[in-house]
Formats: sequence, structure tokens, C-alpha cells
Amino acid sequence: MAKEDMPKNISLKHDCSNVDWDCVSSILKSVHMTHFEGDVHKKAFENSSSVVFVYDDDKLIGFGRAISDCAYEAAIYDVAVVREYQGKGLGKMILNNILESIPQCNVILYASPGKEGFYEKMNFKKLKTGMARFKDADKMQTKGFTE
Ligand SMILES: CC(C)(COP(=O)(O)OP(=O)(O)OC[C@H]1O[C@@H](n2cnc3c(N)ncnc32)[C@H](O)[C@@H]1OP(=O)(O)O)[C@@H](O)C(=O)NCCC(=O)NCCS
Repeated sequence: MAKEDMPKNISLKHDCSNVDWDCVSSILKSVHMTHFEGDVHKKAFENSSSVVFVYDDDKLIGFGRAISDCAYEAAIYDVAVVREYQGKGLGKMILNNILESIPQCNVILYASPGKEGFYEKMNFKKLKTGMARFKDADKMQTKGFTE
């Protein structure tokens, strides 16, 4: 990523105050990630141990979150960057911010199919024994998350 690609007026927020949850939902939808009504995302982010929201001026352009026992285990979810802001280093910034908030933890996640390389660049390794029990198991299999 060329540093000059980074938008000039970027700011980071690490709490859930004044977040437009419908916007969170529509961003997730726009990048083909699982999305719910805004209130459901509000609950998920508010119950997370680490949250990161990225703004360009006052426009929400990306986010991510981790749930954790805050002792030794954590899992990362909902890492997303608005399409026109992708490829500028913002995803890496979100991930680094989350990881810095849980330095003592092992971290797991499941990448969207095709995004594994993004996490591999951040030193994530593929799990050999990862198992998941998804609510909609058929859909997740069709989308390529499970065998
Ligand atoms: C995946 C996503 C968060 C990456 O964010 P981004 O801002 O576009 O990525 P960055 O610009 O920070 O890229 C960081 C590095 O990862 C690389 N990278 C990004 N996406 C990649 C991919 N799909 N495969 C391989 N490498 C990738 C970049 O080339 C860059 O490499 P560099 O450091 O050598 O220059 C973003 O593309 C996105 O929101 N996608 C849609 C939602 C999604 O799938 N989220 C992941 C859910 S698991």
C-alpha cells in the first residue's frame, strides 16, 4: 500500500457511543458479510471487548471487533472496510488496533472465502483442526466456510 493512498482525515474510535448501527448493517451488507438489523449489531459490538470504528471526517468507513476473556483467548469478527476505501491500508489498521488491545491473547477468526491472504499477511495461520457450529450450517457450507 502506498502511504499517500491513506485518506487524510481518518480517525479511530474505540467505543460504541454515537455509532450509526444501520450504517454498520448496510456496510456489512455492501461487502457481502452477514448482516442484521442495526440493533443486533449494536448488541454485538457493545458486548465485545475491543471495538474499532474508522471514520473519514464523520463518515463511517470501516470497523472490527473482538470478543475475549481478556486473559488468554480472543476471536475477531466483523472486520470490514467500505468498498471504495479498500486497498488503502485501513483493514490492516483495524486489525492491528484490535490485536494491540488483546496482546496477551491467542486470536482466532474465520476469514471470508478469498480473504485468507489478508490475514496471512498479518501472520495468521490456517487452523488444521478448526471446527464451527453455525446456526445456518447449509448456507455457510454453500458459501465455502465449511467442508
Ligand atoms: C478484507 C478487508 C477488510 C481488507 O481491508 P483493506 O483495507 O482492503 O486491506 P489493506 O489495504 O489494509 O491491505 C493490507 C494488506 O493485505 C493485502 N490484502 C488485502 N486483501 C487481500 C486479499 N483478499 N488477499 C490477499 N491479500 C490481501 C493487501 O494487498 C495489503 O498488503 P500489503 O501490506 O503487502 O500492501 C476488506 O477488503 C474488506 O472489508 N473486504 C470485504 C469484507 C470482508 O471480507 N472482510 C473480512 C471478513 S473475514
